[in-house]
Amino acid sequence: MEKTSLHGMWSSRMAFILAATGSAVGLGNIWRFPYLASDNGGGAFVLVYLACIFFVGLPVLIAEILIGRHGRRSPITTLASITRETGVSKGWTGIGWIGIVAGVLILSFYSVVGGWTLRYGWLYLAQLFGGAHITDPGAVFTSMLANPAELLFWHALFMGATVGVVALGVEKGLERAVRFLMPALFLTLLLLVLYGATTGHLGQAAAWLFRPDWSKVDAGVFVAAMGQAFFTLSLGMCAMMTYGAYLPGNVSIPRTVAIVAVCDTTVALMAGLAIFPIVIAFGISPEGGGPGLIFTSLPLAFEVMTGGIVYGLAFFALLFVAAWTSSISLLEPATAYLVERGRSRKGAAILMALLCWALGLLTVFSFNLLSHVRLLDRDLMGLIELVANDIMLPVGGLLIALFAGWVLKDNILREQLAGIPAWGFALWRWLLRVLCPLLVAAVLINALL
Ligand code: TRP
Repeated sequence: MEKTSLHGMWSSRMAFILAATGSAVGLGNIWRFPYLASDNGGGAFVLVYLACIFFVGLPVLIAEILIGRHGRRSPITTLASITRETGVSKGWTGIGWIGIVAGVLILSFYSVVGGWTLRYGWLYLAQLFGGAHITDPGAVFTSMLANPAELLFWHALFMGATVGVVALGVEKGLERAVRFLMPALFLTLLLLVLYGATTGHLGQAAAWLFRPDWSKVDAGVFVAAMGQAFFTLSLGMCAMMTYGAYLPGNVSIPRTVAIVAVCDTTVALMAGLAIFPIVIAFGISPEGGGPGLIFTSLPLAFEVMTGGIVYGLAFFALLFVAAWTSSISLLEPATAYLVERGRSRKGAAILMALLCWALGLLTVFSFNLLSHVRLLDRDLMGLIELVANDIMLPVGGLLIALFAGWVLKDNILREQLAGIPAWGFALWRWLLRVLCPLLVAAVLINALL
């Protein structure tokens, strides 16, 4: 077996932690988590979500990284070589293909929303130089969505930033980007939580987020929570598998993974504690905020607080950074695969980015030209999210759990997890073999019914 990846390697354990946390912490934590909580009854959703992270997310995250590090190639090539080596059906390589397709679909809408963060960052930058204030955030948001040319422009800019990093490669691109961006992100969020506390509504927000109202828990809450658990940990589409392929062999996977998951969950909860006090303070209902939640509520606070403009600039700049360090992990697996098929890294990255950008037109038009198109009670963007996040990611995760739990040879597992106690290994494998498949299958059946 080879010891290094042909795409490059993380220079240290810290570099991997930053990159994996960079992938995990993104729009999912700061944009999606608060509005999903808002739409699904607060505490009820949060508890189910935390359970999904712990019982399903963590074991699958370990499995993905382990498979990646064993193969040291893009997901498709890695899975193909493991099936050959193990003598099982080549069909398992399909996990890699599902992953690539899911990644393309997710990046297509992710980049559009990433574009919103750039646009809002720009609005606040302009205000520093006398630009118009955002006095009616709802109207600003609505008029942005109504303008396809504007959305396309920022979507292109965001995709350009993503492809710029991925084209530079693992060490010169990905690793260099996350090294100072991630600490800066964490710090800004902390400041925002502190501001949230000064509104006097922190307790109310915390109660709403953490006190479950069980009457609100229905099948839909489970589907959303499971989808979000996969989305926020970047699971089910082999992004973490790809990052695992660049992980040095002497790093403990379970310990590293625990750090990444704790950071990711902390950021999501902090985002909730930063956003909901402000929402409540301004008399907005925390319920049913939808995807516009942070774009229509936070600007109200930025408008009245001292230094609010600088604050708004910092917030949206950092939201962009969070999205950026995630979107590179959405583009990397497909790029690595094309490189293995003989393309240059630059060419491969640009080709995939163009494809995702073009698919993003569906999301852009779902707010304006095609807003009348509704399927299964959703607009086009909602439909892509449903298919990719709520169905493909769990299906991918389910297959990864089965593959690692039942198919992978014991010696591969033990080599990759060297040093973990016997009970830990047994527990992990039982979760992968039995609990994860059952839970995910139950949720999927619900989603499809
Ligand atoms: N985890 C990121 C977020 O929370 C999004 C993301 C990046 C992702 N890579 C992924 C989601 C791979 C699913 C699969 O914003």
